[in-house]
Amino acid sequence: MTPTDLTGRTIVITGASSGIGASAARTLAARGATVIPVGRNHERTTEVAKVLGTEPLFADFGKLEDVRALAAALLDRAPTIDVLVHNAGAVVHEPKTTADGFELTAQANYLAPFLLQHLLADRLSNSKARAVITSSAAHRMGRLQLDTVFTVQRPYRGMPVYGTSKLLDLMWARALARRTDSTGVTAVACHPGVVRSAFADASPGPMRWLYGSRLGRLVTISNAEGAEPLVHLASLSDPRTVNGQYFDRMKSNASISRQAADEALGEQLWARTVEVLGL
Ligand SMILES: NC(=O)c1ccc[n+]([C@@H]2O[C@H](COP(=O)([O-])OP(=O)(O)OC[C@H]3O[C@@H](n4cnc5c(N)ncnc54)[C@H](OP(=O)(O)O)[C@@H]3O)[C@@H](O)[C@H]2O)c1
Repeated sequence: MTPTDLTGRTIVITGASSGIGASAARTLAARGATVIPVGRNHERTTEVAKVLGTEPLFADFGKLEDVRALAAALLDRAPTIDVLVHNAGAVVHEPKTTADGFELTAQANYLAPFLLQHLLADRLSNSKARAVITSSAAHRMGRLQLDTVFTVQRPYRGMPVYGTSKLLDLMWARALARRTDSTGVTAVACHPGVVRSAFADASPGPMRWLYGSRLGRLVTISNAEGAEPLVHLASLSDPRTVNGQYFDRMKSNASISRQAADEALGEQLWARTVEVLGL
């Protein structure tokens, strides 16, 4: 099948400096899209941008002031945003509270993208944009407790906290999709697979082994393979056909955890998020 020609489309990708995001950025640009890569590491993001033929933007999602500056730069630079790929994310192995007062994983993986989407809301509405959100099968390890989810809990364990942040991403995608009739903006979430990116580089033993060893190569996939769901969802001609869905790799309507499916809880999460971000 011939890949869709994306000439004329503007696609913003966060987490584009590395791994899945960088690979998706290259493929989408090769199909004709104008891709704006957003990264935290200046050198890596600039390298990716060179290949794409565009200028990079930088933001550390551990700082909400960076997110506000990023939104302002995007409003300045992109009269239309057809696709916003929320892909930046990480496991944080030590308990950390940001200067904004939130647990770092929850902020970087969920609150910061939520704020970015909010600050760009009018531009996204006018563009009839789609949000493509990199969640994870790890959302099943997550557990949402509304009163404590944004603060460091002890004992701190990085993977369940990461899983919870990916649960929040999935619930957010579904909440955005419930608002499509009023906003014109669609949303879809995906699990990219277990991908040999830089994702586990800072992880303790077993996880780094899984991602880095020769045996691990048998159960992990390449960045290009991991990027396939993002590329597919960013390229679809009618995003309404997948609005609110969760893709497990290329499988549509994949199963999700009980909390992820709970719409009432999803609305409570939305309200709590708006409250803590002061929106
Ligand atoms: N790899 C997997 O097996 C897997 C499985 C399920 C889901 N995912 C998700 O896939 C997405 C991409 O990860 P990847 O596998 O491609 O890993 P990666 O190679 O480590 O890439 C992660 C990207 O997120 C950015 N990022 C991380 N923390 C950030 C922060 N605080 N502020 C701004 N940007 C930040 C990184 O920016 P810099 O490099 O510029 O710092 C990088 O561009 C993540 O959301 C991850 O949770 C990965």
